Parts: sequence; C-alpha cells; structure tokens
Amino acid sequence: MTPDKKTLRKNSSTMFVLLLLSVFALSFVDAVNHSCKDIYLANPSATNGTYTIQNRKNQPYKVYCEFHNKFGYTYVSKNTAVEVNINDLFTTQAHVKVRHVKANGVQAETIMENIKNYPNQPLGIFYNRHDGYAASVNAANLAPYLYLGFLPISVANHANPQGYRSNGHDFVFVNCDRNPNSYFVFYFNPNHKLPIGYVNRCCESTLMHSWITTATPLPPAHNMPDEFYFDYEIHFGGCGGYAFIHHHNDINGASLGVRFELADPCKSSPCQNGGSCFSEDETAFFCECPEGFIGETCNVKGDHGNMGIIG
Ligand SMILES: *[C@@H]1O[C@H](CO)[C@@H](O)[C@H](O)[C@H]1NC(C)=O
Ligand SMILES: *[C@@H]1O[C@H](CO)[C@@H](O)[C@H](O)[C@H]1NC(C)=O
Repeated sequence: MTPDKKTLRKNSSTMFVLLLLSVFALSFVDAVNHSCKDIYLANPSATNGTYTIQNRKNQPYKVYCEFHNKFGYTYVSKNTAVEVNINDLFTTQAHVKVRHVKANGVQAETIMENIKNYPNQPLGIFYNRHDGYAASVNAANLAPYLYLGFLPISVANHANPQGYRSNGHDFVFVNCDRNPNSYFVFYFNPNHKLPIGYVNRCCESTLMHSWITTATPLPPAHNMPDEFYFDYEIHFGGCGGYAFIHHHNDINGASLGVRFELADPCKSSPCQNGGSCFSEDETAFFCECPEGFIGETCNVKGDHGNMGIIG
C-alpha cells in the first residue's frame, strides 16, 4: 500500500517541524524563571509589568516586575495560591518599596527602611513566617501573608526610640512598655475575611499613616493592576500604634516591593594601576587601562592603553 499524496505531504511537513523543533531545543534552553531577576538576566530590556514565574516546586504564580538599570523590585500577586519562595525574589534587606492605592485609583510608593539609629539592622522579609519577629494579630486568620519586620524582638523589646524610615524621613516613637511588635504585614486573605483583634479598639496614630503621607504619587503609566494590592496590618508597640487597612478609609490596599540587584563584578575593583572597570552583567567586565598598562586587568606594563575583556 502506498500512501497518497496528501498523507505524504503531511508526513514530510511533520518531519520538518519536528526537525526544526529539535534544532530549536538544542540551541535554546528556555530556563525556568524563579524571579524578576531571572527575567531581567534573560532579557535586560524587559519592560515593567506582570510576569509568571515559578516557585521551587515549579508551580506558577504572578508577579509585577519593576526594572531599573541592574536592579529592580518584585511585587507578588494577592491571587497567588501556591507557596512563595520569597528568598528568590530579593538580594538586599536594606530597604523595600511599599506602594499603596487610594480609593480614587491614585497609586504612590515609598522607600521603607530602618531608622538611622539602626544603620546595620536588615529588614525581615518573610512569606507566612516571622522568624525572630513578633507574630501579627491576624496571622492565622488572614494567612498566608508577606511579613516586613523592622526590629526583631531581641532589639525591639527595649524602652527606647523605634519606628521606621519612609522616603528618607525617620518616624520615631518611644517604646513605652517594651512591647516588641515592629512590623508591617500584607495579607493574601483569600477568603476575604474580616480582621480580628485590636481592630475595633486600638490605636491609630500619626506613625500608622506617615508611610502614606510621605509616599510619592506614581505616574499612571507605572500603576500596577489591583491584584497586587493587599489588606495590611501595622503594629509598633508599645505606644507606636496599631492599624489595619480598615482604619484608612481612603486606601484600597498596599503592596510590598522587594529589591533585587545584579551582582557587580566591578565591586571588587579588579582593574589595577588606575584602570576603570565596566560591567555588562553579573560576571562579565572589562577594564579600560591608562597609558602604559595593558592586560585584562591592566596588570601588565605595556606601551599603550588597551581594553582587556573578561567574562
Ligand atoms: C523567562 O523569562 C524570559 C524573559 O522574559 C522569557 O523569554 C522566557 O521565555 C522565560 N522562561 C520561561 C520558561 O517562561
Ligand atoms: C519601571 O517603572 C519605574 C517607576 O516605577 C521607572 O522608574 C522605570 O524607568 C521603569 N522601567 C522601565 C524599563 O520602563
């Protein structure tokens, strides 16, 4: 039995596609993205926006990536129903960005960090845990959550000035009773539950909304979709204050942006004899050598300046 023309043509075009696919697969391994940093490394001209990344079990979830030159911020979608491997999303705990959206749709952002008194205290950034920090009031009720800790219990349980820094301004209170709460928590709250605890009796203060009043409005082109804005709880104790999103009538949600930075191969000053270092990505750099030196790191005496390239 000979195949008719149609089947033959179909078979040969299928073969061709298979061949193409295998050549493609061999020449281009499409690595899994676990973070906005991975997306940036795969495509340094990627634009700000919503992307799908995967956790360590290769389960997909959505993030909003904000890209700058060699660094950026990552915001997790509130609709995420899988575990978030948050340590994959940031490379520094020196500061975060917190965005909020007003009821009228205006979005704004602020850089949050520890106050000047604690220059070397990293922020605590966790998914559904709070290692070394006080538990939030609604942890069980509205979980899962993203936890932003300022001072861990061992540091916060003193009667001294504490607080947070927002867009370069310290907002400080004196801890009156060594209450160690020092956190800003963002709840996924998948079942849209109401908060429990202090919410109806406690303790709005200026500190509780200074991160809102000091925020910089975003141009509408940089706005994020609603799915990135969470219910939140803030607690600085004692005498700092307690607030739940319900205390802030004009706010529809807040979002935690954690920061990644590309490793900088120039950081270790690899260029010798006064050479200037330029980096392209996480490993490649080149040295521009002054007159009289040559070599990849300007380490060789030579007649004229040259550029060494490593990477
Ligand atoms: C990872 O991100 C890059 C850049 O956006 C994209 O081209 C690539 O397809 C992504 N990989 C996967 C497996 O989704
Ligand atoms: C992404 O948004 C930020 C502001 O939120 C902006 O400064 C930056 O230039 C944007 N990046 C790109 C690649 O458009």
